[in-house]
Amino acid sequence: MTDIEIQPLDASLAEAAFDLASWNFATQSALHIALDARLDDYRAYLRPTFFDDVNDGLSLAATQAGTGDLVGVLIVRDFRKQRFAGHLPFQQVYDPVTALFETLEADYLQDRDLKTGEALLVDMAAVVPSHTGLGIYQTLRREISSRARSAGYKYIIGELTTAATQHVVVAKLGHRTCATIVPSDFVHAGRRPFASVTDPPTILLTEETL
Ligand SMILES: CC(C)(COP(=O)(O)OP(=O)(O)OC[C@H]1O[C@@H](n2cnc3c(N)ncnc32)[C@H](O)[C@@H]1OP(=O)(O)O)[C@@H](O)C(=O)NCCC(=O)NCCS
Repeated sequence: MTDIEIQPLDASLAEAAFDLASWNFATQSALHIALDARLDDYRAYLRPTFFDDVNDGLSLAATQAGTGDLVGVLIVRDFRKQRFAGHLPFQQVYDPVTALFETLEADYLQDRDLKTGEALLVDMAAVVPSHTGLGIYQTLRREISSRARSAGYKYIIGELTTAATQHVVVAKLGHRTCATIVPSDFVHAGRRPFASVTDPPTILLTEETL
């Protein structure tokens, strides 16, 4: 990990970060694959909220020392940030993902009364395929906890949709699991849109007290 640098995700890296995160989620996230995500459609859907979050200035980039090439991103936003009010392209296609996370968050908020500025949500994480398994995600998670603490946040929240991120955040970093959903059982609009999802068997909402 000595040749990786972590820095704020600024405008110079934002487009590369968008390409990486959108490609990773459209092609590798079990929830998005179950919805038959198409890369161009997903990018049109994601772009407004992605850049809105990046403009808040708290997201992180991992770059290769020397070249400055982007190798990982962590997109974060205040957990209480108002949802994007405008219409998003292809919104209906991705409504089941939004609904699943809203259900997970509603469960969590039964036991927490959070105000703006108290909890930071790690919304997206992505590492370039050639650099996975090197600890870049773990380094990004440790760094965001440190920066959030310095910024006055009390909690870091994660919504974890892969076995790898669940392993890192729960087993290695020791964050608490506060809410779970079995995606294959989740019902939206009278259907089970994630019926085919078995890996991971559960989607987790985790919390770290800073
Ligand atoms: C998931 C992702 C962010 C992980 O990034 P990464 O930099 O490779 O992660 P790290 O190297 O820090 O840690 C990965 C850990 O998960 C483990 N792991 C990998 N695959 C696993 C699996 N299927 N089940 C359990 N653990 C797994 C690794 O062994 C490693 O743990 P270790 O350090 O104890 O050996 C990256 O693979 C990615 O971009 N995936 C596609 C996008 C995505 O799904 N994002 C996450 C949404 S929540």
